[in-house]
Amino acid sequence: MRIVVANEKGGVGKTTLALNLAARAAETGKSVLVVDLDAQPGSATGALLGYGTQPASEALAENLWDEDAVIQPTSSRWNGVDVLASSENIAGADSSDWSDTRAALARVPKYDIVIFDTPPAAGPRQIVPMEAAHMVVTPMELDDLAVAGLSAIRNTVESVRATNAWLCHFVVANRIKTRAVEQRDILDYLRGVLGPVLLPVPLSDREMVRRARMACMPVWAFDKRDSAAVAWRDACDRILGTTGGN
Ligand SMILES: Nc1ncnc2c1ncn2[C@@H]1O[C@H](COP(=O)(O)OP(=O)(O)OP(=O)(O)O)[C@@H](O)[C@H]1O
Ligand SMILES: [Mg+2]
Repeated sequence: MRIVVANEKGGVGKTTLALNLAARAAETGKSVLVVDLDAQPGSATGALLGYGTQPASEALAENLWDEDAVIQPTSSRWNGVDVLASSENIAGADSSDWSDTRAALARVPKYDIVIFDTPPAAGPRQIVPMEAAHMVVTPMELDDLAVAGLSAIRNTVESVRATNAWLCHFVVANRIKTRAVEQRDILDYLRGVLGPVLLPVPLSDREMVRRARMACMPVWAFDKRDSAAVAWRDACDRILGTTGGN
């Protein structure tokens, strides 16, 4: 199963969700590969391999664009999670033909679960992975701008469905400030508009989540008694266990 974590907005929890999904899938015994398509520092690669660790060249996702290159994902510090690592060069894919990116992503090795972490902008590294995926997962924050921006990613998913009709889409409300009344209103509004596309497990804004990310650990491994641990694991299980289409 291929899962693409995508939102055109930055800093909404894409990488955090991609990492936690990967960890959870590996815990359930699946073979898991993270393909890090985001060239920004602070991407999934740093968390998976250790910040400052230079992966072997055959473990770079940029090699997918070279039909003669050896592609060999490397194991990460996260149990059972392999990675094709990001690099600055991967941004160069945006100026090549989209058919090159299609050919590149067809070279991704077979795993039970492949998770694509994507940059926060519409472009080939966000959209092409959706064309051969089973699912797009969009974390979003609950403010008026984010709601307005949601239509962009929904339109993208809809346009990809022209060639990939069974593509599922889930939206995950993240970084919710539980005491903010206006956020409760936005959540109610989203429930009405999105129906089952909105995952029924909203994720609160919690310092513990940020610290788990800094410690390069899944949220529930960082502090398994915390309510955020339960919520994040539940959200990941719902995403990974779903086969229906939305
Ligand atoms: N529920 C949460 N509570 C608190 N902090 C969170 C939560 N979710 C994510 N964060 C923090 O928000 C920051 C941005 O998260 P993340 O890097 O996952 O976003 P992103 O969408 O991948 O960003 P970018 O678009 O820059 O790649 C990180 O410091 C992360 O630890
Ligand atoms: Mg990110």
